[in-house]
Amino acid sequence: MHMPIIAPSLLAADFYNLEAECTILNQSVADWYHLDVMDGRFVPNISFGPMLIEVFRKHTTKVCDVHLMIEEPEKYAAEFKKAGADNLTVHYEACKHLHRNIQQIKGLGMKAGVALNPHTPVDVLKDILADIDLVCLMSVNPGFGGQSFIPHTLHKIKALRNMINERGLNVHIEIDGGVTVENAKSILDAGADVLVAGSTVFKAADPKAIIAALKAL
Ligand code: DX5
Ligand code: ZN
Repeated sequence: MHMPIIAPSLLAADFYNLEAECTILNQSVADWYHLDVMDGRFVPNISFGPMLIEVFRKHTTKVCDVHLMIEEPEKYAAEFKKAGADNLTVHYEACKHLHRNIQQIKGLGMKAGVALNPHTPVDVLKDILADIDLVCLMSVNPGFGGQSFIPHTLHKIKALRNMINERGLNVHIEIDGGVTVENAKSILDAGADVLVAGSTVFKAADPKAIIAALKAL
C-alpha cells in the first residue's frame, strides 16, 4: 500500500505569520507545498504570483506544486520555473493549445499537470494523458478555499483511475477542494493519490497532527 502525497494549500495559511506556517509544514510529514495562483480573470479571485513562490522556495525542500488558475499560462511558465516551481499545473479550460503548453512546461524542466473544473469530464484528457505527470481534479469551483467537497468528484476519480491503469501510465490524481479528514479515505479509495488540503490543515489547532492523520490513511 502506498501512502498518499499530502499537499497543504498555503492559500489558507495566516499571511501575517507565513514564516511560522512554513516552519510547521517543513517539520510535518507533508510532501508538497500546494501554491494557488489566481489572476482575477480565469477565477473571480486574485492571490499571489512568482514573487511569493520564490520566497517559499528559499525556505523549504518540499516539492513546490504550483496550481495556475490563470488565463494564458504560457506567458508566465518561465517565470514560475525561475521562481522555483517543481510542478506546474494549468487548467484545461484556460488553454487553447494545451499540448503546446504541456510541452513548454516539460521543456522548462518541470512536471506538467492539467486541472479540470468540476463540470469538465475526465474523457477530455484521453489524448493528453500520456504526456502529463499529474491531473488535478477540482472538487470545488476554483477560486476560493473553505468550500464543500462536490461528491460527484468520486465518480470522476474512479473513471480517471481506470483510464490511467488501462494504459499502464504513471500519472498522479490530485484532489483539490474541500478535502477533510472525514472524506479523505473515500477519495483515496476511489483512486486518488495526492490530497490538497487548505482549511483542513491551517484552520486546525494542530496542523501537523492533521497532516499526519491524512498521511496515515
Ligand atoms: C481553490 C484552490 C484550492 C484551495 C483549497 O481554488 O485551488 O487549492 O486552497 O482549499 P480548501 O482545502 O480549503 O478547500
Ligand atoms: Zn489548488
